[in-house]
Amino acid sequence: MDAGKFYAFLRFEEASLALRTVLHLGLIDQLGKQTVSHDELRETLGWTEQSARTMFALLQVMEILEHDAGHYRVTELAANCLGDGIPTSRKPYLAMGSGDDVDGLLQVLRGDFADDALPLYGEENAGETVMDHVDVAREIAFGLASRARNFAAPLAAAVAQVAPGAKTLADIGAGSPYVAHACLQALPQLQTVCLVDRANGMQFVHEMIDQQQLDTGQLDFHEGDFFAALPAAEIYVLSNTAHDWKPEEYTRIADNIRKVMDPNGLVCIHEPLLLTSWNSDAEWMRALWMA
Ligand SMILES: C[S@@+](CC[C@H](N)C(=O)[O-])C[C@H]1O[C@@H](n2cnc3c(N)ncnc32)[C@H](O)[C@@H]1O
Repeated sequence: MDAGKFYAFLRFEEASLALRTVLHLGLIDQLGKQTVSHDELRETLGWTEQSARTMFALLQVMEILEHDAGHYRVTELAANCLGDGIPTSRKPYLAMGSGDDVDGLLQVLRGDFADDALPLYGEENAGETVMDHVDVAREIAFGLASRARNFAAPLAAAVAQVAPGAKTLADIGAGSPYVAHACLQALPQLQTVCLVDRANGMQFVHEMIDQQQLDTGQLDFHEGDFFAALPAAEIYVLSNTAHDWKPEEYTRIADNIRKVMDPNGLVCIHEPLLLTSWNSDAEWMRALWMA
């Protein structure tokens, strides 16, 4: 569910902010040599469940926390380098310049949003979202699509291995035409790909199609809310969607698929992996750039 190492190294500035937040909280000294469960640590910090999962994964990746038998503790490295009042500590150096940015992150981690803060996505008719602001929404949609363009072919190849003869596929929360096009190439018997997205996301799918002059002959555009109802298909692709929603919200999307899917159908869930080790530096670097 969380992006873990992938995320940490993708966004170096967030890793740096996380480190300064740990220092600001005095977490190293607060925990000392204790081992604590996920829930104990989350409650101590007052973070939301989603924030705790992401941040604890990030702090493991950064070797600040280690996880063993369901419990977290501070690593020896962090104890030696990030604690208070010990000669080996670099805390004063690494904490330099911390300020409003750390306070801002802590507010987010506690789920303490300003009254006028907008969610990125939402249900149809549930109020304004960031995606209703066209300029920033375009940047987000095209940014995510540049990633989709590069994972589309391996994703389609994986689907083709399991269901080579499928005739219909639905890309739920499609965001771009690239997965649909890659699937049409990888699955020769595919007749139609249905792209499902809200109108505020679908407009950019059409912009991408126009820019790339892509063929839409086998595409079916289902503009609507995936919390409401979904079209029937043999294969469903849900890519980079789970991490946007709470488990109970994601379950509602899955239930909508279950209601209409073919009994022998397939659901392909594609999410960033929580990796704790890499096979090589080259693999790490490719993941960093998502090549
Ligand atoms: C994080 S993006 C993922 C896009 C694409 N699947 C990918 O892997 O890059 C989430 C997508 O879900 C769409 N979305 C968000 N809320 C939705 C809703 N309630 N109904 C349908 N689509 C929604 C967004 O517009 C966006 O295109």
